[in-house]
Amino acid sequence: MTAKIIDGNALSAEVRGQLAERAAVLKAKGITPCLAAILVGEDPASAVYVRNKVAACEKAGMRSIKDVYAVDVDPAVVFARIAELNADPSVHGILVQLPLPKHFDSAAVLESISPEKDVDGFHAENVGALMQGSPRFIPCTPYGVMKMLESANVPLKGAEVVIVGRSNIVGKPMAMLLLAQSCTVTICHSQSKDLAFHTRRADILVAAVGRAKMITGDMIKPGATVIDVGINRTAEGKLCGDVDFESAKEVAGVITPVPGGVGPMTITMLLANTLEAAERCAK
Ligand code: GUN
Repeated sequence: MTAKIIDGNALSAEVRGQLAERAAVLKAKGITPCLAAILVGEDPASAVYVRNKVAACEKAGMRSIKDVYAVDVDPAVVFARIAELNADPSVHGILVQLPLPKHFDSAAVLESISPEKDVDGFHAENVGALMQGSPRFIPCTPYGVMKMLESANVPLKGAEVVIVGRSNIVGKPMAMLLLAQSCTVTICHSQSKDLAFHTRRADILVAAVGRAKMITGDMIKPGATVIDVGINRTAEGKLCGDVDFESAKEVAGVITPVPGGVGPMTITMLLANTLEAAERCAK
């Protein structure tokens, strides 16, 4: 039996339709939700992500600002711009695309964003709020994964979850969200011994490591839900995830594809967070 596929594009379209309706309600009150995105350098993948985020805003009836800086920009210039955006009441969400060039103190940049406008949810105050179970902004990728699990009616209470990857962007917040839903959560990483031992126990397996096709069908429990957060390229230049889709789909019960899985949901939840920030301003 092959797995049921969660179509991230279809779910995104549905959620974005709802968000566009909410954006229209705000607009009628004279508030246009606005996201400001800052990109430093010319990393091609980051440039595509920022372009897609900005385009998605416009399509959902939200405003966007895109600031692009040269790779060798003085960090003071970026800090000054963030301060300006923090103070601008017409801007509701601010994101700085990661990774930043090496001469930047990334943590300091993230801390300089107003927590009320931190739609990525990366500010320490927002990370703390999530950890305490009362999030202000949920980081977009894990938020999108939760929506996907909900849409597929995947049971969470008591489920064994294994997350492969311990990043601040995906692995750690993902663990907090699933823990809050009473899952039993294991986080694996590059130093974990016998990765397959862990992954084979998982009712829900989340792969977020950034290594092409590293999770193969033999590492998956039959009937498990497999969420692939990876976006990699094969030697031939084709997009692929962290999961070997061909072998995994024969074992899993539910699976997300790459492309067309988690990726579109990440952008959708960024829009949701921006809208939420604007709605809070309207109150
Ligand atoms: N780089 C990779 N993922 C993300 C993300 O979700 N937000 C930002 N700002 N940078 C990223």
